[in-house]
Amino acid sequence: MQLIQCAYTSTASRPLTQFELGELTREARRANFAFGITAALIYCERTFLQVLEGDADAVDELILRIAQDARHCRMIECGREAIERRRFDPHPLIYAERSPSELQALLGADGDCLSFLTVQRAADILYSLLPAAIPRVA
Ligand SMILES: Cc1cc2nc3c(=O)[nH]c(=O)nc-3n(C[C@H](O)[C@H](O)[C@H](O)COP(=O)(O)O)c2cc1C
Repeated sequence: MQLIQCAYTSTASRPLTQFELGELTREARRANFAFGITAALIYCERTFLQVLEGDADAVDELILRIAQDARHCRMIECGREAIERRRFDPHPLIYAERSPSELQALLGADGDCLSFLTVQRAADILYSLLPAAIPRVA
């Protein structure tokens, strides 16, 4: 088994309601648990940033499914890297919503632009959601 991590950003096709976001994250969490995927997702206005990690075949297959999802568009992959251990273990999906100014603060003063993030940087940003995001997703 080869462990990989990949990340992408995308744009919601339209603003999603709290109910739709709840449904999306509930289903994703259930499926990720079943397929041994650990992940984190942030939603900021209509922007998504997600990191997925797990067995290469499972992650590649999931990325293809996510790319076909009509709920979002303009998917840009930050990359795909082999990793030795997971950052988001044991969480099937850490989820958080942030305002644009909060996201900007997470990105830091270096003025990172989402579409130029590396997988490593995306993982660092999403990792910083821990542990505050955990009680909200329990
Ligand atoms: C932004 C976004 C993130 C998603 N993340 C996941 C995820 O982590 N795991 C997952 O199984 N599905 C995720 N989905 C849902 C998939 O796109 C897809 O609906 C789901 O895997 C079911 O696919 P199927 O209907 O082809 O079986 C996500 C969808 C969106 C729009």
